[in-house]
Amino acid sequence: MHFFAFILFIVLTLEANDTAHSFVKSKECQSCHTEIYEEFTSSMHFKSTPQKDPIHKAVWDKHPQNKKLDRYGCGKCHTPAANDLDDMVTKGKHSFPDMQNETHQEGISCAYCHRIQSVKLNKKSNINIISKENKKYFSASKEGKISPFHTIDTKNEIMQNGTLCIGCHSHKMNKHKLNVCSTDLPGTQDRESCVSCHMPKKDGHTFHGFAGSHSNSEMLKEYVDISLTKNKDDFSVSIKNHSSHALLLHPLRVAVLKVSITHNGKVQKMKNEIFVRVIGHNGKPAMPWKASVTLKDTMIKANEKRIVEYNVGLTKGDKVDVVLGWFLVNPKAVKKLGLQNEEVATKFIEFKKESFTLS
Ligand code: HEC
Ligand code: HEC
Ligand code: HEC
Ligand code: HEC
Ligand code: HEC
Repeated sequence: MHFFAFILFIVLTLEANDTAHSFVKSKECQSCHTEIYEEFTSSMHFKSTPQKDPIHKAVWDKHPQNKKLDRYGCGKCHTPAANDLDDMVTKGKHSFPDMQNETHQEGISCAYCHRIQSVKLNKKSNINIISKENKKYFSASKEGKISPFHTIDTKNEIMQNGTLCIGCHSHKMNKHKLNVCSTDLPGTQDRESCVSCHMPKKDGHTFHGFAGSHSNSEMLKEYVDISLTKNKDDFSVSIKNHSSHALLLHPLRVAVLKVSITHNGKVQKMKNEIFVRVIGHNGKPAMPWKASVTLKDTMIKANEKRIVEYNVGLTKGDKVDVVLGWFLVNPKAVKKLGLQNEEVATKFIEFKKESFTLS
């Protein structure tokens, strides 16, 4: 190989990931960290592979890398514990997630996450640098705890400040230089981090079910406030998003605000309000790899207070019911993705409900 080409090759490989490592299986942590293991297996980190996540599979099935049987570039974030991760993410190596290969089905495993030593910031998407020590796990606790199975390193800054998540979650730039999925990072003035909101303390330990849009969303309710303001001839509903990022992040999602009024026992439904970020190309919605622009973005942004007005006067005794929730997959894309029979993709998830009675 030409010397320059060789250097370029190394750089390109490093761009994609910092090489494959071997990891202790999550199952091996179960006997000693039973509760954490149970929670973890209910999370999307455990189910991040095409075989375990039908929504991921549906999109992957349509992806050009799959159609050309070329590679599984998604592996960098969706199957990072794969024993052949390098091949998975390298053009022309034809390695795909396999049900028979246990390392492929580990998802974002216990040991993977606890071995992230640092995160290298990168344009397309960031890169996790993994510690070479197979049985040394990073933790944020301060006491000198001892385990018979592994060593514990409490001096890792990204574990301390809760920013280890941004290796996979901060952004994903496609080849048209569109940021497909972007999570604003918590400002330094913020007390909250990804970890304090998504992994709150529960029964004395750090919750590992990763509260999010698929499951355990009730644990995040406190970060969104809904209020009602009555004016003379109309009223408005306000949604204050206290999180450091837009209410929903993946471009497949659609949030919906449903409002109804009960007046003298009669229910009147208001028109649903939709919050969505639509990406596309040539003026039409498109898949993440084809999209070149954001066509529309009404998603509630980080720390935003969104006010929705309703042209209806309210009187004493009226009751206003408000529901904020979402579809994980935009109903307009369900059929195209062949997901019409998957409940997870078609059901409406109720996030927060509020009732106001006018006095
Ligand atoms: C043989 C039992 C055993 C096994 C197996 C085990 N651990 Fe531990 N681990 C412990 C003990 C004991 C501690 C220290 C006391 C505590 O936190 O309960 C500990 C602590 C930790 C800590 C730090 C906790 C803190 O509060 O600072 C992390 C992180 C951790 N383990 C991760 C793992 C991971 C990941 C695996 C699987 C790859 C694993 N452990 C497997 C026994 C075990
Ligand atoms: C840079 C890391 C990264 C890469 C590379 C990546 N993803 Fe993801 N993906 C994520 C993260 C983080 C989420 C969770 C985002 C959220 O819930 O908002 C996610 C979520 C998804 C979802 C939503 C799944 C669900 O159950 O709702 C789909 C679909 C998806 N990814 C498809 C893909 C495909 C297909 C590829 C490869 C072509 C890919 N991703 C590559 C990080 C990545
Ligand atoms: C190795 C990459 C990686 C790292 C590191 C990572 N995640 Fe994820 N995360 C993902 C992927 C991929 C998904 C989407 C899986 C899917 O839906 O198929 C996801 C999904 C999620 C979700 C959505 C859950 C749901 O119910 O929809 C939350 C919340 C989340 N991650 C939080 C975190 C937090 C907090 C951290 C840091 C402690 C973190 N992640 C670290 C890759 C990662
Ligand atoms: C102040 C609390 C807070 C902080 C800080 C926070 N989040 Fe969230 N996050 C939320 C809320 C609220 C939601 C929406 C409710 C839900 O998805 O259940 C959410 C949703 C998500 C989702 C699901 C989005 C989707 O489209 O499916 C992911 C993934 C996520 N957050 C990751 C992160 C990461 C990574 C960080 C750190 C960079 C972070 N969050 C910081 C509160 C927070
Ligand atoms: C997406 C990344 C991620 C994954 C996956 C993950 N952890 Fe953690 N873990 C963390 C973070 C972040 C903390 C919180 C650090 C802190 O505040 O101590 C933590 C805390 C812990 C602790 C300290 C316990 C406590 O009570 O606070 C233990 C033990 C632990 N994890 C074990 C595990 C085991 C076992 C698994 C798999 C079943 C696992 N982790 C999967 C990121 C992860």
